[in-house]
Amino acid sequence: MTSQQIRQSFLDFFAERGHRLVPSAPVIPHGDPTLLFTNAGMNQFKDVFLGTGSRDYVRAADTQKCIRASGKHNDLEDVGMDTYHHTFFEMLGNWSFGDYFKQEAIAWSWELLTDVWKLDPSRLHATVYRTDDESYELWKAYLPEGHIHRFDEKDNFWEMGETGPCGPCTEIHYDRTPDRTGGPLVNAGHQDVIEIWNNVFIQYNRRQDGSLEDLAARHVDTGMGLERVTAVLQGKTSNYDTDIFQPLIACTEDLSGKSYHAELQHPDGIAMRVIADHIRTLTFAIADGAIPGNEGRGYVLRRILRRAARYARNLGLTEPVLWKHVAVVAATMGDVFPEVVQHQALIEKVIRTEEEQFLTTLDNGRAELAAAATTSTEQISGDVAFRLYDTFGFPLDLTQLIAREDYGLGVDTEAFTALLDAQRVRSRAARKRHHQEVEAGSFNGDELQSRFVGYNRTTVESPVLAVSGNQVVVAETPFYAEMGGQVSDTGSIVVGGFTYEVEEVRTVGGAIVHICQSEIDPAVVGDVACATIDVDRRGDIQREHSATHLLHEALRQVLGSHVQQSGSLVAPDHLRFDFSHFEKPTEDQLRQIEDIVNEKIFEALEVTIEELPIDIARTIPNVKMFFGDKYGSSVRVVTMDPTFSVEFCGGTHVRSTAEIGLFRIMHESSIASGVRRIEAIAGRSIPASIRELIVNIRAQDEEKAVLQERLKAAEREIASMRTSTLKDTIPAIAAAAVTVDGIRVAAATVEAATTDQLKELGDTLRAELKSSGVGILATIIDDKVQLVCVTTDDLLKLKPAGKLVGLAAAMVGGAGGGKPHLATAGGKDAAGVSSMLAEFPKLVSSYTF
Ligand code: ALA
Repeated sequence: MTSQQIRQSFLDFFAERGHRLVPSAPVIPHGDPTLLFTNAGMNQFKDVFLGTGSRDYVRAADTQKCIRASGKHNDLEDVGMDTYHHTFFEMLGNWSFGDYFKQEAIAWSWELLTDVWKLDPSRLHATVYRTDDESYELWKAYLPEGHIHRFDEKDNFWEMGETGPCGPCTEIHYDRTPDRTGGPLVNAGHQDVIEIWNNVFIQYNRRQDGSLEDLAARHVDTGMGLERVTAVLQGKTSNYDTDIFQPLIACTEDLSGKSYHAELQHPDGIAMRVIADHIRTLTFAIADGAIPGNEGRGYVLRRILRRAARYARNLGLTEPVLWKHVAVVAATMGDVFPEVVQHQALIEKVIRTEEEQFLTTLDNGRAELAAAATTSTEQISGDVAFRLYDTFGFPLDLTQLIAREDYGLGVDTEAFTALLDAQRVRSRAARKRHHQEVEAGSFNGDELQSRFVGYNRTTVESPVLAVSGNQVVVAETPFYAEMGGQVSDTGSIVVGGFTYEVEEVRTVGGAIVHICQSEIDPAVVGDVACATIDVDRRGDIQREHSATHLLHEALRQVLGSHVQQSGSLVAPDHLRFDFSHFEKPTEDQLRQIEDIVNEKIFEALEVTIEELPIDIARTIPNVKMFFGDKYGSSVRVVTMDPTFSVEFCGGTHVRSTAEIGLFRIMHESSIASGVRRIEAIAGRSIPASIRELIVNIRAQDEEKAVLQERLKAAEREIASMRTSTLKDTIPAIAAAAVTVDGIRVAAATVEAATTDQLKELGDTLRAELKSSGVGILATIIDDKVQLVCVTTDDLLKLKPAGKLVGLAAAMVGGAGGGKPHLATAGGKDAAGVSSMLAEFPKLVSSYTF
């Protein structure tokens, strides 16, 4: 069976038994801040187990994309070293939500494995939780007791993370030893006897304090690694020998010109397994919206990518090659997971950019590390590790990895940490010198407790708790302290008969510290102060903040769901929003984003703000929250249309989006690789910016008028200069006149730019001929022939220019006439000009009246 057929037969088996087939959840759990990556099939059903959510079915099955590279379930270090651990894998799963329980779950596992897939029953072992007699008894119907083993919490009590649904489990292991003697190897970490299927009986919730709470119902949650079961069914000892990984390994072989070695110790084999595994993790994580970075899951991905890149380097590949494997993942898995095909170009680009940067760093750092390794006996010093970190951007774990794997050395992490701390203290001190900073020690934030009450109030009377220099703490305050990008309020505090202007507000531990313009009399401690914020300024800040939420969602809608906030500033007169995205947004995209935000403003959406328990809040569809942020047991949820923008946010907001007025993007730029910045304005900044724009346009208009005047003058000047140059050619034209019947006839082309100029040249020619002369000048203006004909005063009757020009014009497809001394005409036939000029003397002589 191919892996495709295995996956399908699992799904079919459970569909036939009343299970709803559901799609895999994204590998990035956008709705659960306790998880960096989806690590089990049950993640998407966590709310059902906890009773906070429900589904319209009680049995489900799927194949779930999982990443186990961080947190409780982390297999990163093992990957490549063995045959069966992965950072990314597909978990086939079936679930009962308060429906069937142990008996059916065990019976169906057995049926699928032995009846449908025909696995040899004598190679199967089951493990049960040490006190789970029920499962033990159930297994006795299928297995001899020698194949049923009891284990403790470590192996047979499954938990999703530090908190969340959990319960005892029973696992099925497969014995690949030739003589089926693998019993003692169950759970021994041996590749000959591996776990293939886990059936968890979810009964409890692990709470924050570590205690277990009984759930209202009992559920079944199972998980079977597709890669492992495929290896077993395809008779392979290694997952990497299956049709799942072989195309990836072949790709690395092609690129490196080296062959895959299945022996575990072979360095080329390790490298190829690492790459084959890690590229799937990177591909799926990026497809679902993650981007390598410096924090949280971004950092986990960066480490995975760097680990793979380092191994590629060990294969002699000095160019970025990881990204070239994305096409293989797309080709082999795109039918089941179309997101990989849909985002292939973006995934390749993200990986390639990261690889390029890393390879440069790696070269430099490796040389440094190699030099240090030659003089180190046991470990690399903290100094070297810190220099690598500081100068080459090597995270400590990378230095540790290279030191261990390439040189068999440790790293003095204690010394490294001490240096890092010292550097942090130094940069903190430098920051303090820069800003007017809350003096260390002036307030003990742990002892002082003040409360922000300014979501709905702008003036508050409250006793002064402490004073130090120009800083004061009151028990309750309407002042918002700088947080989550929103700048602090300004305003005043009146106490002891004086008014103190508040310039900035910060939290120090539990205290909200107001930093004032002048020193405060310490005698006011205990007095009641009246604290009032600048209400207009707060209003401005709120407009910018609510606009930021709308912008965030608009960016995701236009640029894609990978867009994530990486920083923001909300000030009274502008906002700044930094986000992950790999290309410069087009003008058109920026316009669309601006339009969406403005539409949401025009819709006058009510802004609702609720305090909700975190467990409930994080199940809200499409809720935006930030990883790395620590949320308490309850969170503030700000909603502007539940189908548009729902965000965890402690900031202050408008009541209706209409208050924002209008929104305008001012500037878009790149601030780091994969991170872009939008600067925008909203509310009252808009009329100010329009005024500024109009003033600028007016100034430009005036400038334009002046310039146009100057341009005209310059054109006039040029024309007259040109006329005078052209006039210089006239005497020669007159001198070249031919004489017919005693009349001198001059005929020539000139390069006049206008008919006025041509007339002027005609005048000049007429003066030059003085008497007994007739002349014609032709010029081409805009593809048309223009003629001027002149006759000296003595011949006005005999050879009037007005008549002659008509005859000449007829020869170039035109007509014309005029006065006897000077006349003009036009014609269409520019090609006829030279023959007309040659004929002109004859024409003059033949003219009689
Ligand atoms: N949730 C269980 C596991 O991940 C099935 O092993």
